[in-house]
Amino acid sequence: MKFPYSEKVLEHFRHPHNVGKLENPDGKATEGSPACGDMVSVYIKVDSETKTIQDIKFESYGCASNIATSSIITDMAKGKTLDEAKLITWQQATEALGGLPPIKAHCSVLAVEGLRAAIQNYEEKHGLVSEKSPTTIEIVNNRLKKIMNPLTGLDVVKTNLIKKIEIDNGKVSIIVDLPSTHQFAASIKEEVKEKIGTLWDVKEIVVDFID
Ligand code: FES
Repeated sequence: MKFPYSEKVLEHFRHPHNVGKLENPDGKATEGSPACGDMVSVYIKVDSETKTIQDIKFESYGCASNIATSSIITDMAKGKTLDEAKLITWQQATEALGGLPPIKAHCSVLAVEGLRAAIQNYEEKHGLVSEKSPTTIEIVNNRLKKIMNPLTGLDVVKTNLIKKIEIDNGKVSIIVDLPSTHQFAASIKEEVKEKIGTLWDVKEIVVDFID
């Protein structure tokens, strides 16, 4: 029987490059795959003068294909400028790995999205976002879709954990459909603040629970 993975995929899966966490990263993001619920976190250190990625690490909670693609993508991104790194595609990563089974395309998409989100996090924190349209409920909702509901492994929007979103003059108020004493309440609140807090016109975030 022909094994579905190339030698290169297996090599990167068995000995992934750039695995781990960076202390005090300049940009970081955790992205979840809508297709499978798996997650990847990407951390970057950026030279503030040249805007090049000096160091990059990832933690994958995904499958072998995601680990292999994250490994090769972080190799490709290291030393590139943020603008160059943004252009890396999942197709390029898949090609560099000698191909992936088509059913595994979303795993490489997840790795690319993790990298792009970490770059976006850096750009937002440093006021480098050129398109400054006002934050809308839709934008907040899309960000919340990146937060996993630890009870189900699906995102908090899809699993109806977000009861209400209101935006008023830079203040975003969110009601989460859990009691404040719930074991995941504190971590969800922290993640909400992390995802929304970098939006350029958001000044205050209030996360309430249902008690
Ligand atoms: Fe989820 Fe591959 S199946 S990342």
